[in-house]
Amino acid sequence: MSFSLGNISKFFSSALGGKADGSILGIDIGASSAKVVQLRASRGTAVLETYGEISLGPYGGVAIGKAVKLTPEKISEALSDLMREANVTGRTGGLSIPFSASLVSVLEMPKVDKDSLKRMVPIEARKYIPLPISEVTLDWFAIPHEEQMESAFDQIEAPKPVHAKMQEILLVAIHNDILRDYQNVAETTGLTVNFYEIEIFSATRSSLGHGSAPVLVVDLGAATTKMYIVERGVVRLTHLLTSGGQNMTETLARSLTWEFEKAERVKREIGLVVSSAYSTDENDKIKTALLSTLTRVFSEVDRVLLSYGQRYNKNVSHVLLTGGGASLPGISEYAKQTLHADVEVANPFSHAEAPAFLRDVLQQIGPGFSVAVGLALRNLKSK
Ligand SMILES: Nc1ncnc2c1ncn2[C@@H]1O[C@H](COP(=O)(O)OP(=O)(O)OP(=O)(O)O)[C@@H](O)[C@H]1O
Ligand SMILES: [Mg+2]
Repeated sequence: MSFSLGNISKFFSSALGGKADGSILGIDIGASSAKVVQLRASRGTAVLETYGEISLGPYGGVAIGKAVKLTPEKISEALSDLMREANVTGRTGGLSIPFSASLVSVLEMPKVDKDSLKRMVPIEARKYIPLPISEVTLDWFAIPHEEQMESAFDQIEAPKPVHAKMQEILLVAIHNDILRDYQNVAETTGLTVNFYEIEIFSATRSSLGHGSAPVLVVDLGAATTKMYIVERGVVRLTHLLTSGGQNMTETLARSLTWEFEKAERVKREIGLVVSSAYSTDENDKIKTALLSTLTRVFSEVDRVLLSYGQRYNKNVSHVLLTGGGASLPGISEYAKQTLHADVEVANPFSHAEAPAFLRDVLQQIGPGFSVAVGLALRNLKSK
């Protein structure tokens, strides 16, 4: 079982007496690992109280780093272990929903009051959702016109111009079964969930600044890579690639005839950086194996940049790498050499106050926590 926990938990539980009052959690159940972040609001800033990550593979009988499908009971078991090991004292927060489990569309509706909208949206939604409406839970949000948006993170913008008498509604649908599973997990784990949020909105909140230029966010997960373009805080385009960190480990394991576990460990330890612990031949093989996946992913990134540029006649010049895969040693340098844009690696913990001695480790593990930090930040803001 693998934990990557902050020693911060001990630091803070003694410094703050482990008070759960006012502490808020962000919980991200990913395909390969679950992450938790506990923040507290203090004098207008977010203070990091504790954080932790646990690999889910071992709960489903597969290796650390592999994507795994678990029952709600197993997920709850993993979350309980994680919260105990990370000294999490809070019990209230936000939970992420995988992007792949959601449907997001933009509806164009007449400008009517809130009550009428409440009646009209579910009827209109039938045209967009290929499932009986009774089987899904709907949430919607009127997209404001001005750039001054109260919650600029939860929106996907329609490319069409809007008629003056019309308004755009962002519609999010989640299958009831999926939501029920998550509610089940929360209940079994003893959590009070204030809201569920589709992960890309959470990651956007914690990883992007307030700039208005379009940015391509690339979330390098275990089994998939999610890409989405965010402009003025609004998600404009999304793309899912069924290739991720797990493929890198598999190729590496095959190439050097190692077990998956060993390949996973070496990938995280040395990544694309030459190491004196291995022979020249091994170093070459490691790099080649890891690059065989990464080259494919990055060529898709370039393709998305190009197609967005052509469609909207705009140049997307900034790429933000996030997700656990963005912690691969040497990825930033390689991305800067290959991608046709500026490259930055996400540092979501920069939004929270933390002891200086943790700065380096938080920066190193940060990309994997973008979703969890974003969830906790939303919760703090709405308090
Ligand atoms: N230091 C590291 N170096 C290289 N790869 C890493 C490192 N840490 C984690 N990874 C890889 O990142 C991937 C997991 O990333 P992440 O935790 O963001 O995925 P997830 O949230 O579980 O999946 P998803 O977002 O697709 O649901 C794994 O393939 C893992 O091997
Ligand atoms: Mg993830």
